[in-house]
Amino acid sequence: MFSYVFMKILEGRPRSYDRIMDKVSRGRVRAAKEAVAAETPAGAHVLEIGCGTGELAEMLVGMGSIVEGFDLSPSMIEAARERIDEHGLGGKLSVRQMGVDGMDTLPNAAYDAVVSTLVLSELNPDELGYALRHARRVMKQGGTLVIADEVVPRSAPNRALHAAARAPVAALTYLVSRSGSRPIADLAGELVRAGFRVEKEERSQADAFAVVVARPVEEEVPS
Ligand SMILES: C[S@@+](CC[C@H](N)C(=O)[O-])C[C@H]1O[C@@H](n2cnc3c(N)ncnc32)[C@H](O)[C@@H]1O
Repeated sequence: MFSYVFMKILEGRPRSYDRIMDKVSRGRVRAAKEAVAAETPAGAHVLEIGCGTGELAEMLVGMGSIVEGFDLSPSMIEAARERIDEHGLGGKLSVRQMGVDGMDTLPNAAYDAVVSTLVLSELNPDELGYALRHARRVMKQGGTLVIADEVVPRSAPNRALHAAARAPVAALTYLVSRSGSRPIADLAGELVRAGFRVEKEERSQADAFAVVVARPVEEEVPS
């Protein structure tokens, strides 16, 4: 489970990121992406927040979707572009180097779905709220938001165990990469505050990992 903490180190090695993450996490990271893909409508126009090397985006393209991804890391975007060239995904997958703070440049009500795996836990609280509000804005009516990420367990004993076991790995990761991630304390609450209704939340890994499906709350049109 604590392989997620190591991701910050692997992010500096985008060409081996997916392969090593898959090994270190014993397939869990890929399984998380498959779970997100399974909840995303097929044949959709999809925005991916923090697309990394484009592994999830490629799965979605395989389901007939057109995907636009963005990521803060230039080297991740370079690896995603290599994937596009090598796997002939041009025209179906496009990526750009951009942080969530650039989401205000995205058009209103343009996407059927917005997806993200293991990115929101790398954002600070302001960025997280900002990203979710813009995810809501750019989504069409009835759209689908699917998120998979590390979250804080709900019960006190699970929380204490998780925090104690995660701390040494997080410290080591910070020493090596000078950066880190934090499990999201109240993902459902963040979603509601951003204008979403949580439709489904599946927890696994001692309650410390969540796949969440949410839909925009429709604004009432005055009659
Ligand atoms: C753990 S990786 C996950 C990548 C990909 N979603 C996956 O699951 O393979 C986290 C990604 O979030 C990106 N990221 C971190 N902060 C970001 C931000 N503020 N805006 C956009 N992307 C960000 C990182 O560059 C990195 O590619």
